Amino acid sequence: MVEYICSRGSSLRLRELLDTTCRLANTLKKYGIHKGDRVAIYMPVTPLAVAAMLACARIGAIHTVVFAGFSAESLAGRIIDSGCKAVITYNQGVRGGRVVELKKTVDEAVKNCPGVKHVFVAQRTDNKVHMDDRDIPLEEHVFDYQQGDVFGCVADIGWITGHSYVVYGPLCNGGTSVLFESTPLYPDPGRYWETVQRLKINQFYGAPTAIRLLLKYGDKWVKTYDRSSLKTLGSVGEPINHEAWQWFYRVVGDSRCTLVDTWWQTETGGVCIAPRPSEEGAEVIPAMAMRPFFGIVPALMDENGKVIEGNDVSGALCIAQPWPGLARTIYGDDQRFIDAYFKKYPGYYFTGDGAYRSPEGYYQITGRMDDVINISGHRLGTAEIEDAMDEHPAVPETAVVGYPHEIKGEGAFAFIVLKEDTVQTENVKEELKSIVASKIAKYAVPDHVLVVKRLPKTRSGKIMRRVLKKIVTNQSSDLGDITTLDDPIIVAEIVDAYEKYKTEQSASS
Ligand code: WT7
Repeated sequence: MVEYICSRGSSLRLRELLDTTCRLANTLKKYGIHKGDRVAIYMPVTPLAVAAMLACARIGAIHTVVFAGFSAESLAGRIIDSGCKAVITYNQGVRGGRVVELKKTVDEAVKNCPGVKHVFVAQRTDNKVHMDDRDIPLEEHVFDYQQGDVFGCVADIGWITGHSYVVYGPLCNGGTSVLFESTPLYPDPGRYWETVQRLKINQFYGAPTAIRLLLKYGDKWVKTYDRSSLKTLGSVGEPINHEAWQWFYRVVGDSRCTLVDTWWQTETGGVCIAPRPSEEGAEVIPAMAMRPFFGIVPALMDENGKVIEGNDVSGALCIAQPWPGLARTIYGDDQRFIDAYFKKYPGYYFTGDGAYRSPEGYYQITGRMDDVINISGHRLGTAEIEDAMDEHPAVPETAVVGYPHEIKGEGAFAFIVLKEDTVQTENVKEELKSIVASKIAKYAVPDHVLVVKRLPKTRSGKIMRRVLKKIVTNQSSDLGDITTLDDPIIVAEIVDAYEKYKTEQSASS
């Protein structure tokens, strides 16, 4: 049975209306709209306006529907009189062949309404409008997911990306989500792109580690398949190095798709810092997480625990206010939760990561704070050295750790993986050193470069630098907890390579 027939020709079944209503009701709740709160609806007669009324009713909020032809002043009057906490509107309206600037009018109105905490903005036209921190886009994500799209997050459900972006996120949004049961190399390195072609995937979300792995096998595995369905590519899990970013963007996305580097953590529940390409004038800078997501207030801290103001600065990345997805505790151990995340910087959630805020105010994640090394007084993230070295065409993957150095305090020790057909290994090592010297500085050049077949990784694809650090500090007999390691044989391989290297070194000195 068709329940609503719109004058523009579309129709809405009860089932769809219920879906939309529930989704919107959940969004309102998520942003703190409770029973008894007042919400202004400033929308023309559309299915979503109906859903907005029902969504309020569903959660016990009280709606005041304001005729979408009223001025900013009239709207403000109604918001103030009824003490509204939120407004629901469209970016623009279309009436009698004319575009109506609904969001602009709301912006004007809420200037004088301090009680309004959020403005929820749906898309009626394709035009982009100005968005503030207070504004919540109803249909845009980081991934620009539109109804009907096929969202392909290839993460395992055994880690948070799978929870939030294979299961809960797509379901909450009534989306279509892909369950990828395989691995990127089986039966061959074209598996992802064959899946994209077969299922017509629109958003592809994966990890830098897989991209670096596939890059090693060349472009042909990608180019064999039709990827024209792809609109957005996403990366998560580690800082994505420039080479991997460019390959993902140029080869996989044919320089046509948006590539978003999304930063978040298991503890944050969902994406916290990421580009928002669907917004007016938004830019995407390669290998940069860019902008805080709605409701996220990042802060950078210095070594004395003080907030660092201004731009072009680096520090420990904290978040200053709670947000809906934040973990509540460590199950059964509240104190451990407090100690791990809230002790170091009282009043702030500490992420454990370091970040740089660019002159434009954009964020770049520089890696785990534990991975910061101090060479002759220069502090730098090992990810920075890795990123520079990864640019070498023969080197798909590297891992750098610090080790005690008599003169410099700490020195950099690099582990590198070479492409299969690489011959001139010694030349590559020298080239790597000069790349680091020119891209970063002479002091950052690793003292040691050791070629290994593979790097030790967790099952979710993160390099376990902690294990490498134990090896280079001669503690390989006590590697700590390595139960999350994907393949323990790799460690034995590396220990062997390291012992051999040490023997060679002492013979030559
Ligand atoms: C840590 C969280 C987020 C779901 C998967 C991992 C690192 C994550 C990025 C990124 C640089 C990143 C951080 C973070 N990380 N995304 N885009 N750029 N670093 O969840 O296992 O809880 O790991 O992964 O170090 O703290 P997780």
